[in-house]
Amino acid sequence: MLNWDDFHEDDAPTAEQPSPAKAPAAAPAAEPEATAVKEAAGRYQAADSDRLARARASLEELDVAAGLEELEMGAARIDVDDKRMINARADLNQLVPFKYEWAWQKYLDGSANHWMPQEINMNADIALWKSSDGLTADERRIVERSLGYFSTADSLVANNLVLAVYRLITNPECRQYLLRQSFEEAIHTHAYQYCVESLGMDEGEVFNMYREVPSVSAKSAWSLKHTQSLARPDFHTGTPETDQELLRNLIAFYCVTEGIFFYCGFSQILSMGRRNKMTGVAEQFQYILRDESMHLNFGVDMINQIKIENPHLWTAEFQDEVTQMILEGTELEVAYARDTMPRGVLGMNAAIMEEYLHFICNRRLAQIGLKEQFPGAQNPFPWMSEIIDLRKEKNFFETRVTEYQVGGALSWD
Ligand SMILES: [Fe+2]
Ligand SMILES: [Fe+2]
Repeated sequence: MLNWDDFHEDDAPTAEQPSPAKAPAAAPAAEPEATAVKEAAGRYQAADSDRLARARASLEELDVAAGLEELEMGAARIDVDDKRMINARADLNQLVPFKYEWAWQKYLDGSANHWMPQEINMNADIALWKSSDGLTADERRIVERSLGYFSTADSLVANNLVLAVYRLITNPECRQYLLRQSFEEAIHTHAYQYCVESLGMDEGEVFNMYREVPSVSAKSAWSLKHTQSLARPDFHTGTPETDQELLRNLIAFYCVTEGIFFYCGFSQILSMGRRNKMTGVAEQFQYILRDESMHLNFGVDMINQIKIENPHLWTAEFQDEVTQMILEGTELEVAYARDTMPRGVLGMNAAIMEEYLHFICNRRLAQIGLKEQFPGAQNPFPWMSEIIDLRKEKNFFETRVTEYQVGGALSWD
């Protein structure tokens, strides 16, 4: 149990300064409040009265009206109809009234599923990883490549959110989810680092794979290409060209990076866990996959809402371009599958993975209203859908949620 004093060591109660928590015990309950105020006055004084006077004089000069005029989107009471996904004129500091209930609901759902990497027991993984015959060379390759790609991929996603996307999405409830998602991406990077550290892997090698191993670096380079123009400080939406550039970024990150690039590695590691190998790493990936499927669904909702509000952006030419982008991403993931599975392993091989990725590609295209490019592709891994299925989320977290320590559990004793 956390104790309040853990956070307030400097505030340890003294005879002169009782903590608010302990005041009732230290002072008789009957003591009139007025007496306490009188005693407080004059008990100490400012270290530098000139400094305090300057602070007060500066506040005298604060022009509140002018300050509020500086607000980017105006400071009037907002009308829900003024809220828009991009290029809104409504004040971004007023969360309510909500316009996009789905965004707020996803923020609540994401927050309800909070988890941390240290909660997962890694002992069996450490023993298996360190034993000379615990895993085959092909299985070890999959673990190394997965941690190599993901340990930096989630940083690319987080940086894209914080440095490129956030300021361009002009809706407070969506921004609230983007903040939640950004923290989840930090937790994911933490989870991969935790696995690498637990297994005693070469950190320099793992964290540089995105620059040094071709099948990994091709995916990272493709994602980075789509964040560069938006991350420039002089980039602004507001023209059809720049609005389309934002849409390209959202599709590149939500539909391709988080929606396709994660799926070969996730299914490989989860297949390993289903075979009772590297179960701690697999559990970390299982939690991450649940978060990621929510990120993907949020991104799809955001993209479709921008399309509804700005139909002029969704031209036939643009749809064609975006379809090509999603095909490019699928090809890169198929190449990654071939590199990580030169032979059959864990009941999978590169050809079966290719069909799975074509099935996923069809899903991503359909989710944003585009034509499927691999009609008839089937899902060879139906167990992946079961893991992703959010309706089962409650059971999965049933035991953990009750144990989870939140702010409300702080002890005042
Ligand atoms: Fe992530
Ligand atoms: Fe994500």
